[in-house]
Amino acid sequence: MKRAIYPGSFDPVTLGHIDVIKRASSLFDWLIIGVLNNRAKSPLFSVEERVKMLKEVTKDIPNVEVKSFGGLTVDFARECGANALVRGLRAITDFEYELQIAQLNRVIDPNIDTVFLTTNLKYAYLSSSSVKEVAAYGGDISHFVTPYVENEVHKKLKR
Ligand code: PNS
Repeated sequence: MKRAIYPGSFDPVTLGHIDVIKRASSLFDWLIIGVLNNRAKSPLFSVEERVKMLKEVTKDIPNVEVKSFGGLTVDFARECGANALVRGLRAITDFEYELQIAQLNRVIDPNIDTVFLTTNLKYAYLSSSSVKEVAAYGGDISHFVTPYVENEVHKKLKR
């Protein structure tokens, strides 16, 4: 059984993430989405909220599971019994950063490979940070996230 993890902050999950999740879930038998419990980044949503949103938006994909993790991504992959780590690439700037992390991870654990999926061009400009910024200034985020996530972002920003 080919198992992969898709790690990230997902603060919040965007349509770009969902595109990567759908494509990765068709490449692997089992895909575990790993939501990083990264207090240092002071996320808008708690890790529990991010996991909940991811579960909601992936509920129709049968071979996808959502978990949170802290610590090293490669340790999480090993705990999950996965030997592949999926990351989406939007632009060359992503590539420089991602290549460095992938190489570092391979030194830490040579048994785990990183698989890059190039983002659907439709979502090449999209990031969780821009979604939060547009929403914070009252802009329309319906092109960037699902209606469920849109509602969660608005609820959170109102508080
Ligand atoms: O969605 P993001 O914030 O770009 O995801 C980044 C993530 C979670 C993949 C990366 O920060 C990560 O792997 N963090 C866990 C700590 C770790 O393994 N560090 C070693 C590589 S820098």
